[in-house]
Amino acid sequence: MDDRDRVRDAARIAEVIGTYTVLKRRGRGWSGLCPFHGERTPSFSVLEDPPVFRCFGCGEKGDVFTFLMKKEGMDFPAALRHLAERYGITLSERPAQDGDRRRLLREVVGEAALFFRRQLREAPEGKAARDYMEQRGLSAETAERFGLGAAPAAWDALAVQLRRQGFDPEVQVEAGLVRPNDRGGWRDVFRNRLIFPIATEMGAVVAFGGRLLPGDEGPKYLNSPETPIYQKGHQLYALHLAKEAIRQADRALLVEGYMDAVALHQAGIREVVGVLGTALTPEQARSLLRFTEGKRVVVAFDADQAGRQAAERGGAVLEEVARAAGIVLRVLTVPEGKDPDAYVGAFGADAFRNLLDEAPDLVAFRVDRLLASVDDPRSVEGRARVLEGLGPLLGSLGSQVMAEPYVRDVARVLAVSEDALTRDLRRFLPGRPVVARRTAMARPVARQRAVEARRGLLAYLVLHPEGRPWVAGQVAPAMLPDEVAAELLATLLADEVTSGWTDWLARLEGTRAHELLLELCFGEDLLPEHDGEQVVQNYMDALHLDHWERTATRIRNDLSQSGLDRDVANQLMVEHLEAIRMVKEFEARLAGRVPGQGMGHG
Ligand code: UTP
Ligand code: MN
Repeated sequence: MDDRDRVRDAARIAEVIGTYTVLKRRGRGWSGLCPFHGERTPSFSVLEDPPVFRCFGCGEKGDVFTFLMKKEGMDFPAALRHLAERYGITLSERPAQDGDRRRLLREVVGEAALFFRRQLREAPEGKAARDYMEQRGLSAETAERFGLGAAPAAWDALAVQLRRQGFDPEVQVEAGLVRPNDRGGWRDVFRNRLIFPIATEMGAVVAFGGRLLPGDEGPKYLNSPETPIYQKGHQLYALHLAKEAIRQADRALLVEGYMDAVALHQAGIREVVGVLGTALTPEQARSLLRFTEGKRVVVAFDADQAGRQAAERGGAVLEEVARAAGIVLRVLTVPEGKDPDAYVGAFGADAFRNLLDEAPDLVAFRVDRLLASVDDPRSVEGRARVLEGLGPLLGSLGSQVMAEPYVRDVARVLAVSEDALTRDLRRFLPGRPVVARRTAMARPVARQRAVEARRGLLAYLVLHPEGRPWVAGQVAPAMLPDEVAAELLATLLADEVTSGWTDWLARLEGTRAHELLLELCFGEDLLPEHDGEQVVQNYMDALHLDHWERTATRIRNDLSQSGLDRDVANQLMVEHLEAIRMVKEFEARLAGRVPGQGMGHG
């Protein structure tokens, strides 16, 4: 077996994909919301045998490699390496250069993380950071969990240590750990700071944030620069520690700082990640959404002006990303002029949980702010100002029904009637939601039945290779009007030995029959209750029926041509009679066997 096969066999596709979207058991596989396009109802399926995925909404499909390539923008070697690493497979082929570099960077950053941790745990040089950690109320357990560290005050403690471990200065520089000094030497980027490692969702450290210690000077936090393994806007702080809790709580809380995230985790509130001082990016928003099925995201920011601005900025991005995905966004304002860390320290976890549970949705949050921004909302001027702001705000909801609860609250505050307010807002809101109506179209029943039968029969063959001789004795690939289906049927019938999914997929690679096979893997057709012999016999009869109907039509067309040779015409008429007879026969068979039930099984 080559690397590709070994890795594919070892990798658990549902597990890999399950970190991007919540998957639930369904039938022979798993289903969930598609991680490739925004949707509210699941049309994404994953199977284990064969290990493939497919979205019926956007059409994305493939195996575990394709998934990572599409989702993470990896090339094939990168996806192969990633999975090999994750599932403990040693690759025989040498990985690409680029991958080597990244691996080296991860290694050096990982070693730096260990170094910082050791300093914090036991080194004399780590005492200042240890004291500070204690002062901030962080336990040793928390420090371990988050891998907190201490950067010594010396100029080049880390550089020297890494050099000793065999890492070239250039690598250390590229990793953002070390900088050239003006004397041709090297100095550490992080000195005399409490270190917060920034890890990927899988827990690999790729960067650091370092907090200033009391008595020292400089910016409060220093952060690693972007490197080939660290893209700021893509990471969320503590996601690897929070993702399980997010899944369980079915909501994610977004905080601004390292300290906030760490303190909340320590207080037992673990569905928390940090955005690290930047405005939330769409990538970050998306990676959060993968873990909350209900797409519930709460943004928590300080109550001060800056915090509110940040909340709205992040909110705007989230909103944008979310609109298509149906996210439920709420805003937690921490009172008392505190940030979440300070609040939970002062009032405890229960009090904070309360804030979290009560956090208003984004519209309510904005409506509150609008009302708060007006001196006297019951004055003529105040009412006018509120009305002016309210229209666009509620207009984004798109319907009066959605806007009603807000209208009710605002009407109370303004001391006006709900009706009057609704009338004034009318131009912002459509009277009733526009619902697309589907025209019921009479489906050509027989044709539909044939299509179902074709899928059903192919699916049956895939699942029950032992049924091949039986099927081969009754149906020929040429009977199928669809070339692709015919090719697949031929492949399935030609098989002497049971080869299984992987083999078939490999054999048909690159053909359209391959796609059809993949599609079949996900069809309802494969459910066991369709396996009854009767059902399969019906499939075959339906295919015959369709075949003869088409034959009869074709002959009629031929006959209608002018200037036919008399003998040819006679022959055609005989064939037409024969075809009609066959149509009648298969109709009777089908009708006799399952009266009134047809071929549908849904
Ligand atoms: P804060 O100033 O609110 O810090 O900045 P904090 O997390 O509450 O830290 P403490 O409690 O004062 O120790 C919020 C976040 O903004 C980023 C950091 O990610 C920080 O956690 N930041 C802040 C920087 O990157 N650099 C800075 O100089 C300041
Ligand atoms: Mn703080």
